[in-house]
Amino acid sequence: MAQVHSGIKESSSTNDPSESSNTEADLVARLPTREGWSTPLTLHNQCWLRSHMLGKFMAVRDNFRPRGDDIILATHPKSGTTWLKALAFSIFNRSRCSLDNDNHPLLTTTPQKVVPFIGAVGGDLDYLETLPSPRLLSTHLPLSLLPPAVSTLGCRVVYLCREPKDAFVSRWHFENKIGKGGPIGLEDAFDMFCQGCSAFGPFWEHYLQYWKESSARPREVLFLRYEELVSDPLEVVRKLASFLGVPLTQEEEDGGVAQQVVSFCSFDSLRNLDANKAGGVERAGGKVFIQFSSLFRKGKVGDWANHMSKEMAEKMDRLVEDKFKGSGLVF
Ligand code: A3P
Repeated sequence: MAQVHSGIKESSSTNDPSESSNTEADLVARLPTREGWSTPLTLHNQCWLRSHMLGKFMAVRDNFRPRGDDIILATHPKSGTTWLKALAFSIFNRSRCSLDNDNHPLLTTTPQKVVPFIGAVGGDLDYLETLPSPRLLSTHLPLSLLPPAVSTLGCRVVYLCREPKDAFVSRWHFENKIGKGGPIGLEDAFDMFCQGCSAFGPFWEHYLQYWKESSARPREVLFLRYEELVSDPLEVVRKLASFLGVPLTQEEEDGGVAQQVVSFCSFDSLRNLDANKAGGVERAGGKVFIQFSSLFRKGKVGDWANHMSKEMAEKMDRLVEDKFKGSGLVF
């Protein structure tokens, strides 16, 4: 198979919290830090970051060198990052690696790893420099913690968000799955989420920063919702292909390529691959273990109703209405 830029790289030292420097510990000590969820969170520039990743994420704004032809998949956690990565990677690389190919990277590697996180999982900054252009990268960081050159150079950004109640329920399950320090109750998690205190939160700031960027740079920032991926995945595949600069040809349309991508990246298809059923990574000095299988739970719209009380749902809806008022972003 032709060489496909998969972004696959096992972390050497960059994500090993046992190698965190004193400087990082000093930083955490100086900034507001809270327990909760599965790992402590530290507030940096109005964004809550996992404390064990603070130094890595703080370095991104100064040391990540964007290129004008970079494509960045940006998400708030639990918005469908894994799905978006699988879709974008398979669409972007399809001319070099057909989905029929038995050696397709997504058959053996979890989608999270095929598109590196800027400054984090598989994407330490020196490594990103070695990747050929155009690079397909990803991040959970808000725009305000990325270098301004992402905007000024006109980097293309695909932002995926999700209805906040579903994103919250998904996150609550996930954090309890990965954490080894005992479960966090739904009410406690809910209170923290509504206070904006969750990794990469407040979620409303995150959504709004990319929403405004998509209004300012509509040709370069594609704003998507998990719900539209669920309701019309074929249309999203076409949209993504055009946005990534590799639109589907008539021949591909006739050959059912869009449907092939949708099926290949569907929840059941990905979840049942060995690469996504087994294995995982340890983080935060062993305090969390992320099983790749935990990235696939239900994959449904509206699951919040099975977990949240009517009062909680109303409170979250009021919060969302208030935070997004006047922005044009509605859930
Ligand atoms: P649920 O917990 O509601 O099931 P992220 O990848 O950003 O961590 O988001 C995880 C959420 O996306 C989980 O939601 C997960 O089940 C869902 N998901 C993962 N892969 C998916 C796919 N191929 N199709 C639909 N949903 C998917």
